[in-house]
Amino acid sequence: MSVLRTAALAARENAYVPYSHFAVGAAVRVGDRIFSGANIENASYGLSNCAERSAIFAAVSAGYTKLDELLVIADTEGPVSPCGACRQVISEFFPADAVITLANVRGDSHQTTPQALLPGAFSKGDLNA
Ligand code: THU
Repeated sequence: MSVLRTAALAARENAYVPYSHFAVGAAVRVGDRIFSGANIENASYGLSNCAERSAIFAAVSAGYTKLDELLVIADTEGPVSPCGACRQVISEFFPADAVITLANVRGDSHQTTPQALLPGAFSKGDLNA
């Protein structure tokens, strides 16, 4: 099992999901460092944070803003699909051609890229037009 998958599965154990009961884990690689995160929900539902953003924000909080790789995992029929907000956040911190692995607990996985997940993402460059 890959290091990222192991880290994401471990983080998923800490998912705080009293409302959806849908636990998600994610892990980010930057060089040889790994950061992980789970989804964290709130009684005010809209404040819930996805696993992808938890993992990415852990890496950014540790001082890394150029991330290399991400894996996200949940108990879904096929590989889990990141929400729109997470696709935008992924596009902020990963190269357009970075490896993003979508996985599920039963062993399916699909490799994609930030560019494929969100073509035409709003970016830093758009602010300077
Ligand atoms: N969720 C994630 O953490 N990542 C995804 O890729 C899909 C959705 C979370 C948000 C919420 O806590 C729960 O899954 C149900 O939507």
